[in-house]
Amino acid sequence: MTTIKEVAAKAKVSVATVSRIINNKGQATPETIARVQATIKELGYKPNVVARSLASRTSSTVALLVPTISNPFFPELARGVEDEANAHGLNIFLCNTDDERGKVSKYLTSLQERYVDGVIISSLNINKDDLEELHVNGIPTVTLDRTFNTHEFSSIGVKHRLGAQLATQHLLEIGCKRIGLIRGPEDDYTAVQRMWGYRDCVKNLEWFDPSWIALGDFSVKSGYLCMKELLQRHPDIDGVFASNDLMAIGLLKAAYEWGRKVPDELAIVGFDGIDMSQYTNPPISTIKQPSYKMGQMAMKELVRLMKKPESEFRKIELDVELVFRESSMR
Ligand code: RIB
Repeated sequence: MTTIKEVAAKAKVSVATVSRIINNKGQATPETIARVQATIKELGYKPNVVARSLASRTSSTVALLVPTISNPFFPELARGVEDEANAHGLNIFLCNTDDERGKVSKYLTSLQERYVDGVIISSLNINKDDLEELHVNGIPTVTLDRTFNTHEFSSIGVKHRLGAQLATQHLLEIGCKRIGLIRGPEDDYTAVQRMWGYRDCVKNLEWFDPSWIALGDFSVKSGYLCMKELLQRHPDIDGVFASNDLMAIGLLKAAYEWGRKVPDELAIVGFDGIDMSQYTNPPISTIKQPSYKMGQMAMKELVRLMKKPESEFRKIELDVELVFRESSMR
């Protein structure tokens, strides 16, 4: 592989001159620039990106930390981040943390060593110290989705509690008399907000008590198991709000095994609006999150902070919408 020294020798200039011309910095006569560029082309020289990062302490790369890559919600989010990053000439490091503290911490250290120019984080396992350390080291951050609002830094999320109210109110309006909730993980900010949104709608109804809530983990399997639990506990259940679409997909199997007709005997609403939710039988009503737009906006916010690090931070909560499909069409 051709080195910068070979280019300099052939073009009869210093290595520093070649570096300045490659990085469009500093002075050089048009003749020198033309001669160096011709030599680069002739020798097929490719600048060493890692070496350039070390010199400039930047990498034209940003990182996106997501809690899983097996849930279609996050690739849709990542696509918005990636498209916006590419539009600004930036590359993406995609880091799957499994929402484990050890992996989050390892990635944050490794990314700083590679001079990433910014970080977008969707994780429950970050804390204010993480964000402050990145900020002090000149690396802007934006938290996304599993945002926790107990920090001063920029974040992009949606109105989770309102979305859960929309879902539960819809089930009441179509005539459901006993509505259960399959909630997300105990410590998940988004799951807790959705649980409160459901409770806002049912807490004063004479039949309600916490036994109508089953604890899932956002997986398909937990949706199946939780629905079986609710059917055993409350055979008179006739509506269910699942806190994400994967659990809504999983509960369909339990409804089928119990011989419950959807939506006539059991109406269902999910949350996220992943593409897959429209291809189940029946297609699932859901609370759609603008996932692509969330990713795009997180990247726009990060670029804003990268350009002007002293800018004020922004908290942005986007609207959600009820997508009405056969699983709740009565
Ligand atoms: O489906 C995964 C869930 O985790 C989504 O609802 C998203 O909001 C994230 O919190």
